[in-house]
Amino acid sequence: MSEVPWLVVPAAGRGRRMGADRPKQYLELQGRPVLAHTLARLYQAFPAARLCLCLDVDDRHFDPAWVPFADWRRVPGGAERVDSVTNALEAIAGTAGERDLVLVHDVARPCVTVDDLVRLHAALADDPVGGLLAAPAADTMKRDDGAGRVSATEPREGLWHALTPQGFRYGLLCRALREARARGLAVTDEASAVEALGQAPRLVAGRRDNLKITHPEDLGLAALVLAAQAASPSHHRGVDPSG
Ligand code: C5P
Repeated sequence: MSEVPWLVVPAAGRGRRMGADRPKQYLELQGRPVLAHTLARLYQAFPAARLCLCLDVDDRHFDPAWVPFADWRRVPGGAERVDSVTNALEAIAGTAGERDLVLVHDVARPCVTVDDLVRLHAALADDPVGGLLAAPAADTMKRDDGAGRVSATEPREGLWHALTPQGFRYGLLCRALREARARGLAVTDEASAVEALGQAPRLVAGRRDNLKITHPEDLGLAALVLAAQAASPSHHRGVDPSG
């Protein structure tokens, strides 16, 4: 039987780019908050996992009824995403073992499929570094000149979008985030902190519809993605033998 991972879900963002009346993880998607969808997907893939959910200390929208996991804890969010993740790792120090696998998944990605979650987990089982779901860049990439014009076309060969989850062993992830902080590095995902240690995380090709709800139009897109996935239940493959 494969190892049960720890799950860290940073959900303490304010989501200001959405311009909504509440943080984006509480906006309604098919009648339920984004956060409930995301946790349900993670639970389908890893029902026995232990969850650390990072929430703003002033969060007034959260309802524990949305958490399907039996073993979970609420952890205070930090100023930046990396601070929220660091708080979660500190909260399980002493309980988590150095070699335990920790999967970090943004609450703003409710469309991640069970199939991708299970494939990532399997791909990382014996990996000495860890890795992340990622999608190859499909569009031609432009760099701007800072004044709204193109200064260069960047070759897209070998370029990937970093998605989540990202999974690393507890000890390595703690060390990577600690050293990144000490060096003053800007860390927008776990992999970049591990890269700064000189390690090369594994890229696990994931679905392009694992989008991050960031801008107002993303909510409608996510609803379409969920409806399309429901009509084609392949994302349950490997989990529900009757599905
Ligand atoms: O804002 P953005 O979409 O980049 O945030 C990525 C993830 O990090 C979201 O799930 C958000 O809730 C979380 N976050 C957090 N603590 C912060 C900022 C963001 O947990 N201080």
